[in-house]
Amino acid sequence: MAIIELRGIKRHYTVGDIVVRALRGLDLQVEEGEFLAIMGPSGSGKSTLMNILGCLDKPTEGSYVLDGLETSTAGADDFAEIRNSKIGFVFQGFNLLSRTSAMENVELPLFYKKGAARRDQAKRAKAALVEVGLGSRLDHLPSQLSGGQQQRVAIARAMVTDPAFILADEPTGNLDTEMTLEIMSLFQALNDRGKTIVMVTHEPELAAYCRRIITLRDGSLVSDQAVLQRARATEALEAWKAENALIAAQKAGGAA
Ligand SMILES: Nc1ncnc2c1ncn2[C@@H]1O[C@H](COP(=O)(O)OP(=O)(O)OP(=O)(O)O)[C@@H](O)[C@H]1O
Ligand SMILES: [Mg+2]
Repeated sequence: MAIIELRGIKRHYTVGDIVVRALRGLDLQVEEGEFLAIMGPSGSGKSTLMNILGCLDKPTEGSYVLDGLETSTAGADDFAEIRNSKIGFVFQGFNLLSRTSAMENVELPLFYKKGAARRDQAKRAKAALVEVGLGSRLDHLPSQLSGGQQQRVAIARAMVTDPAFILADEPTGNLDTEMTLEIMSLFQALNDRGKTIVMVTHEPELAAYCRRIITLRDGSLVSDQAVLQRARATEALEAWKAENALIAAQKAGGAA
């Protein structure tokens, strides 16, 4: 079943006398279980598309059906409800509450979810943190976690409401190579378990971990390709660690 169905999406921004045509009639279908990368040069419309996919913005023209719901005609309340229940956001800057523990950060979206039994909240937040490998860091504050761990908390927070898909905007933009590979490996594991993921990235090496890559240029979709030989982030991570261990050993040998 299609989770995302965009038809003829246009987004025009009017600035003074100038009309910027940021998206020029985009069609896109994303099925359940896909792992999609959105690529394209600066100014091509990636953030504009992200904002529409994330129900943070509405197109000037066109239809967006999310998990069977038409969003373009939804009123403000329904639009916000669709956003909160159907989409899990992961941002480059983590966006965690700094004075709030990992558990409380992950529990937060459940307070806004209609019909969620309150007593189940802690249980679900804990399960989400265990799923991202942070079962031993429940009470840590963001400042007591590494960047990669903070992004894991953000991913647990995105997952806890069981959204139709995860929308990630340059999720590893603030992370070093090792943490980047850890996060990509986590995304691949979640996707292998059936989670639909849409990720914006500038980097072809990261897009290679996805299953499908679309490329925007000047507001239009210029390519849409399946990734035939998908890179495995866990393997890249192991290779990276082994290489670093070797370099460290050589340095230690040289110093002796
Ligand atoms: N709020 C806005 N008002 C007016 N023009 C805008 C607005 N947001 C984006 N644009 C214009 O729309 C076009 C697409 O912008 P967008 O931010 O979607 O690009 P992008 O692909 O995300 O670029 P980058 O890789 O630099 O983040 C650009 O020409 C930009 O100047
Ligand atoms: Mg952008």
